Amino acid sequence: MEDPLLADVGDSRYTMRLRLEPIGPANASDLWLVHNDDEVSRWYDNAKPSFEEAEQRAKFMGDSWRFHGVHKWIAYDRVSGEVVGRGGLSRTPVDDDWGQIYALLPAEPWVRVAHEIRRPSIAHANWLEIGWALRREFWGHGYASEIGRAGLAFAFDVLGVQAVVSCTVCHNVRSRAVMERIGMRYAGEIRSRGMIEGVEEEQDDAPFAVCVLLRRDWDRSSAGLGFGQALASVPR
Ligand SMILES: CC(C)(COP(=O)(O)OP(=O)(O)OC[C@H]1O[C@@H](n2cnc3c(N)ncnc32)[C@H](O)[C@@H]1OP(=O)(O)O)[C@@H](O)C(=O)NCCC(=O)NCCS
Repeated sequence: MEDPLLADVGDSRYTMRLRLEPIGPANASDLWLVHNDDEVSRWYDNAKPSFEEAEQRAKFMGDSWRFHGVHKWIAYDRVSGEVVGRGGLSRTPVDDDWGQIYALLPAEPWVRVAHEIRRPSIAHANWLEIGWALRREFWGHGYASEIGRAGLAFAFDVLGVQAVVSCTVCHNVRSRAVMERIGMRYAGEIRSRGMIEGVEEEQDDAPFAVCVLLRRDWDRSSAGLGFGQALASVPR
C-alpha cells in the first residue's frame, strides 16, 4: 500500500544552462562520478565513495525528497547532457553541530522547530543548507553560482523557508566566493569535523565559515526579484 506520507519526488528544474534533477537511486552513478573527482574529494577528507556508498547516499537523498520535499540536485548540461556537478539544498539535522548555527540566526522560535516528518532524519523545518560541488573541468564558468541562485529561488519562492545557510571550511575560498556572489552574507564561524588548512587529516574542531540569507532580505533584495528567472520547471 502506498505510504500516505510520501510526497512526490521533486520535479526536474531548469536554469539557463543546466537541467537539475532531484537525486535519487537512479542518479547514484552520477553522484559517484562527482565525488570521485580528485579536486572534489580533497574537500571531503580525501574520501572517495565506493559505488555502494554512493548508492546508499543517493537512496537517502531520494527519501529526503519524498519525505522532506527537498535535497540536492545533480546538474546536467542542458545541451550535452554531461554531469556538471551536484548541489542545491538540504534540511539540516537537529544535532549539536548544526545547533551552533542558532546563534547566527535571529533569536526567533522558528529557528529550532523540527520538521514534522522525522524520517529519513530529524531535521529543521524552517531553514535549509545550500551547497555545491562541480567536476573540476566545469570550474570557472559560473555553474556553481547558477545552481546556488536556483537553490535560493527554490528555497524562498517554492518552499517558503525563513533562511538558507551555507558552511564551508574557512580556507575554501572558491566556495566562499560562490556564497558572496549569490548574495549570502558572512554571519560567523562554527567548529566541526573537517579539514584545517595545512593539516593532512580531518580534525574534530575545524573552523567553518557560515553565510546566511534570510527570507526578509531575499524579499527586499533585487536578487530575490532577479533570481525568479534563475529557475524554471519547464525548459525555456
Ligand atoms: C566550490 C566550487 C563549486 C566553486 O566553483 P567555481 O567554478 O569557482 O564557482 P562558479 O561556478 O560560481 O564560477 C565562478 C567563476 O567563474 C567565472 N564565470 C564565468 N562565467 C560566469 C558566469 N556566467 N557567472 C558567474 N561566474 C562566471 C567567474 O568569474 C569566477 O571565476 P574565478 O574563479 O576566476 O573568480 C568548486 O570549486 C568545487 O566544486 N570545489 C570542490 C567541492 C567543494 O569545495 N564544494 C564546497 C564544499 S562546502
